[in-house]
Amino acid sequence: MIEIQHFFDKATFTLTYVVWDPNTLDAVIFDPVLDYDPASSSLTLESFKKLDEFLKSKPFKVHYILETHAHADHISSSQVIKKFYPKSTLAINERIREVQATFSTLFDLHDFSTDGKQFDLLLKDGDVIQAGSLKLKVVFTPGHTPACTSFIVEDAVFTGDTLFMPDYGVGRCDFPQGSADELYTSVMNRLYTLPEKTRVFTGHDYQPNGRVMKFQSTIEEQKASNIHINSQTNREEFVKFRTERDKTLNAPKLLLPSIQLNINAGHLPKAHSNGKSYLAIPISFKEAF
Ligand SMILES: [Fe+2]
Repeated sequence: MIEIQHFFDKATFTLTYVVWDPNTLDAVIFDPVLDYDPASSSLTLESFKKLDEFLKSKPFKVHYILETHAHADHISSSQVIKKFYPKSTLAINERIREVQATFSTLFDLHDFSTDGKQFDLLLKDGDVIQAGSLKLKVVFTPGHTPACTSFIVEDAVFTGDTLFMPDYGVGRCDFPQGSADELYTSVMNRLYTLPEKTRVFTGHDYQPNGRVMKFQSTIEEQKASNIHINSQTNREEFVKFRTERDKTLNAPKLLLPSIQLNINAGHLPKAHSNGKSYLAIPISFKEAF
């Protein structure tokens, strides 16, 4: 039976998980966070240090760093982890190439390759990842982004931003190539068809109405009470609701830095001749005058 340790980043409401086999200590990491202060544009290692401290508490064998998608709200610490755990493989959905193509154009990134080669491994739908004695099944769940993946390990599924806790619903679908219709299919046909007792581990918890942080539910609970998509939800109604709701949402605070680094597998942009890396920040008026 697998064991799971969560880490919660209060600044971005992100959940990182370490999953391991207690018999062999074969382990994988989901969605690790690198702390970023936008005012000073500086990266710090608080979240990495917490993870690292835990990973040093036992002789874990870290096989994979798995990204559920290219996050738009926090920066991945995957390259920092790879420095200290060089045997780990960084993997993401092969459709990351579509996300790279979209955003490299938007940010006007020159010489940015959009073939996904920045990552160690591009995953295909239905792939089985063997991480020592751990076996993970790759299930594409597009909708929040085109490159969203859920991972099934034994009786647990890691859903990233496809499913949140039942009282918070599902991820927004207004990022480029996001699709409420696709998200509905992913949830209904790919997640809600899993055994009812499957444990669901979400990628964020926004603590609605000030409740305590929660990150674990079951497929049965989601089908019964997810406020956006439960087993009774009609596709057209959901798509209408999601599309209208998304129009009212602000861009995530760390959208611009997060996306630029995360489509580059967590690498900083190539340094300029002065040795410093820079982010591109597009600017435009929202209204004509
Ligand atoms: Fe996300």
